[in-house]
Amino acid sequence: MGEEYVTNVERTEGRPTIRIGKVAVTGQPCEEISPDESAVVIFGASGDLTKKKLMPALYFLFRNKLLPKGFFVLGLARTDFDDAAFRADMEKSVKKAGNFDAIAWAGFSERLFYMKVDYNDKAALAAAKEFIDRKAGEFGAKGNKVLYLATPPSAYRTIIRNIAASGLSAENDGWTRIVIEKPYGRDLESARALEETVSRNFKEEQVFRIDHYLGKDTVQNIMMFRFANSIFEPIWNRHFIDHVQLTVSESIGIEKRAGFYEEAGVLRDIFQNHMLQVLSFIAMEPPSVYESELVRTERFKVLRALRPLDRGDLEKSLMLGQYVEGEVDGKNVRGYTEEEDVAKDSVVPTFAAMKAYIDNWRWQGVPFYLRSGKRLKSRFTQITIQFRKVPHLMFQDVFEEEIGPNALIIRIQPDERIQLKFHAKNPGSRVCLRDVVMDFSYLSGYEGLSLDAYERVLMDCMTGDKMLFVRRDGMELSWEWLAPALELSDRKGPHRPDRFLYRAGSYGPIEAERFIANDGRAWVNYEK
Ligand code: NDP
Ligand code: BG6
Repeated sequence: MGEEYVTNVERTEGRPTIRIGKVAVTGQPCEEISPDESAVVIFGASGDLTKKKLMPALYFLFRNKLLPKGFFVLGLARTDFDDAAFRADMEKSVKKAGNFDAIAWAGFSERLFYMKVDYNDKAALAAAKEFIDRKAGEFGAKGNKVLYLATPPSAYRTIIRNIAASGLSAENDGWTRIVIEKPYGRDLESARALEETVSRNFKEEQVFRIDHYLGKDTVQNIMMFRFANSIFEPIWNRHFIDHVQLTVSESIGIEKRAGFYEEAGVLRDIFQNHMLQVLSFIAMEPPSVYESELVRTERFKVLRALRPLDRGDLEKSLMLGQYVEGEVDGKNVRGYTEEEDVAKDSVVPTFAAMKAYIDNWRWQGVPFYLRSGKRLKSRFTQITIQFRKVPHLMFQDVFEEEIGPNALIIRIQPDERIQLKFHAKNPGSRVCLRDVVMDFSYLSGYEGLSLDAYERVLMDCMTGDKMLFVRRDGMELSWEWLAPALELSDRKGPHRPDRFLYRAGSYGPIEAERFIANDGRAWVNYEK
């Protein structure tokens, strides 16, 4: 494979030198190309996302010299900070995220600024624009701007209009890109309304709709695994695959996000975005060239081929659950309706299992079982490709035990790995079988730097690569496909659907086991 290195970068803290390259080079550590000089403007800079994800990610990129010299951050929110107070607050969050280095922080924090701004105040936004223009000159940010919306989604439309009115969206001396966090609307109608506002004020090439699952290395690796190897693609279809499972299991509860979660529930929080985006990687066709728009088109085609959910027979393709008190990681935890700011009679689902079909030549008749929940036994995101059983078992008179099918397990997180499960003879004179695992650990043998999802998507936004961002048509299709499930889930009163309770710390409601067992199959859980 050809090598095309753009620049060499010294690693911090005695780690080896890494190379920044355009393409992954077999056997070599390889990271992304250096992004453009730019200002990063965070709307919602005092909020949880900024503290937990954005600031640690920007600091990590800076510390590892992955950001250009011409770079600075402006945080905007209503909280009464000055630059010093903002920097002190961000320092706490970055320390919490780990790997703090005082010297690197000193260099980074000089580039951190804050302005107290209410988004309804157009004059304040115009002042922010002047400030950005001035600092861009000082830091050499070349007029490029990333505008990152990390505010409550209900504020997006107002902010976008006011950004445009204040001139912040203009591209006079450089590019302006807007990053929009999920949730992107709460149904098809509201997503379209938001789109309308976005497209009135920004060109599509300026819009980056984030789904941070797409920034996870192991999600992108699904493409490399499938299309850079010749051995998997020939069996990646209905002739060899019995079914596919995709599980996004979380052990955390709703933390302090009751306001958001009471509105969203698990279908809007995980299924509409992360789940369907990962599904599109598993099921997509190979594009002719590894190019952003072509990859996005193939992912879009998967969503386009999802069989519409049957409104009249939804219980076959959907079941919902909610956690009650239990024990997670040895600690007693509250049930959902006991969580702070959750209505005592809330019926919002914190768990769902779904069955989906993709109506195309490759996947016709192969069920995709999707499952996600909060406060489950452990945190894992995993894809299981369950192959068909052997067509004829010549050992039927030799072994008493049932011989299960082969499975390929792609663990997205944690402990990222790919495992192929198959059967082999037990050593010894007796003829008997054992289940064995061929195991590839994603990070083993790799010494370079790895980027987490937010680091990756921030880099891509600054380089202008949209491969890992959601396209408008794909986003609308996912809302459209999910609509019958959302309508059912949102129903109140006597017609509301069953919500099966499960103990926190379990694998979910017992009905979820039945849901898949009715088809003669079983969920595959996390195994070390
Ligand atoms: P928070 O409620 O913690 O933060 C909201 C931010 O918006 C605060 O900084 C707040 O400023 C600011 N804000 C709200 N209204 C105004 C206003 N009128 N004028 C100026 N600033 C305002 O939310 P999160 O950080 O949790 O979430 C932000 C977005 O990111 C949401 O869309 C969420 O869905 C998404 N997201 C969050 C994740 C997370 O882990 N938190 C994960 C994935 C996505 P102030 O308090 O100073 O008024
Ligand atoms: C967010 C959801 O998008 O993803 C959260 O809003 C969820 O509810 C989180 O906890 C999971 O992300 P990760 O990267 O921890 O799997």
